[in-house]
Amino acid sequence: MNNKKLRYGLIGAGSNAERKHLNNYMTLANVELVSICDVNIESAERLAKKYNITKVYSNYEEMLDKEELDLVSICTPNFLHAEISTYALTKGVNVHCEKPLAINANEAQKIVDAKNQSGKQVMIGLNNRFTNEAVFLKKYIDSGYLGEIYQVKAGWIRRSGIPGRGTWFTNKDSAGGGVMIDLGVHYLDLALYLIGMPAPSYVTGAIHQNFSHTTTRNRNGYKGNPNGIFNVEDTAVGFIGLQNGATVNFEFSWASNIEQDKTFIEILGTKGGISLINGEVKIHSELLETCVDISPVLNPNIKLKNEFEHFLNSILTGEELIAPAEHGVYMMNIIDHFYKAASRKEPVFFEKVKDKVRLLSSF
Ligand SMILES: NC(=O)c1ccc[n+]([C@@H]2O[C@H](COP(=O)([O-])OP(=O)(O)OC[C@H]3O[C@@H](n4cnc5c(N)ncnc54)[C@H](O)[C@@H]3O)[C@@H](O)[C@H]2O)c1
Repeated sequence: MNNKKLRYGLIGAGSNAERKHLNNYMTLANVELVSICDVNIESAERLAKKYNITKVYSNYEEMLDKEELDLVSICTPNFLHAEISTYALTKGVNVHCEKPLAINANEAQKIVDAKNQSGKQVMIGLNNRFTNEAVFLKKYIDSGYLGEIYQVKAGWIRRSGIPGRGTWFTNKDSAGGGVMIDLGVHYLDLALYLIGMPAPSYVTGAIHQNFSHTTTRNRNGYKGNPNGIFNVEDTAVGFIGLQNGATVNFEFSWASNIEQDKTFIEILGTKGGISLINGEVKIHSELLETCVDISPVLNPNIKLKNEFEHFLNSILTGEELIAPAEHGVYMMNIIDHFYKAASRKEPVFFEKVKDKVRLLSSF
């Protein structure tokens, strides 16, 4: 990496912006925190003061027009990701956009098109792809240890984890959907990424909304709005048939009557399986005609920082991105088809295409 300091701006000064983006970009020597923008100017001012950022805006276009930034983080509600990303790209600014990349595949594709025209980089904030566990599993699976993969399970189930009942998170217009677009976009994404994002054949599933009325199932630390809208699903369950014959079942829930929260990915192959359950990796296989479970001892390096260093490296050196915008189109296509299937109460098929690059960008 060379010594150039990159001019950084942040759009959307909410909780994720501070916890994840500012806390990490501020630690990188070749980043200058230049400006911050939020429609709620007080939120922007609060973070500006705390992180020593001198330029504060309430309008992202004005900030992008004036500041000659090299990169921005976009941490606004989901429905603004496409609009702000494409504007930043037309200004020649690299974009680190939070998940989901957009609220549907068409909008995600607009970001990819703007990126291709600008020659800049767009990375999605898929931090789960950057953990030590994910990096290990990706290498392990890519090395062929599982044999032929035939079945995948993915899920993230919370007992009381609605991220702000009655806020933008539970409003379809601003979020694009409910738990599927919030948590599914992390963990179904991770499962499919680990197996190489194969082409889907069809999706089926159902959505449920059972906790919109209760004030008791909000996520700890997230404020709700008692008069706000709740018109999205709090539970999503589904099944994907992949074109290669493998199958995926998934389950996501913001709120449910279970004992404990759980995240899980299980990938089953003809030679072995892996599980990532509540963050713990295990390998399941056979040795000497005996079933064995292996617990890898992973290097406990700092996790999140990798995502930010990697994006800078990619801007400066062209290093291939781990979470490029094209992957957001793939995921949003699956989610669009899932919502369609849930509303029609029948499987929805994908158009068959031979080559994967077309598949990523053609739905
Ligand atoms: N990667 C992760 O693990 C993770 C975790 C939490 C949230 N997220 C994502 O981050 C994004 C933000 O989530 P959050 O929890 O920080 O939400 P939040 O509500 O705390 O923050 C959103 C901020 O955007 C601001 N905003 C709204 N419209 C704007 C506009 N036009 N211009 C500038 N600012 C505007 C709001 O005033 C608010 O301060 C979402 O897309 C969410 O899915 C990702």
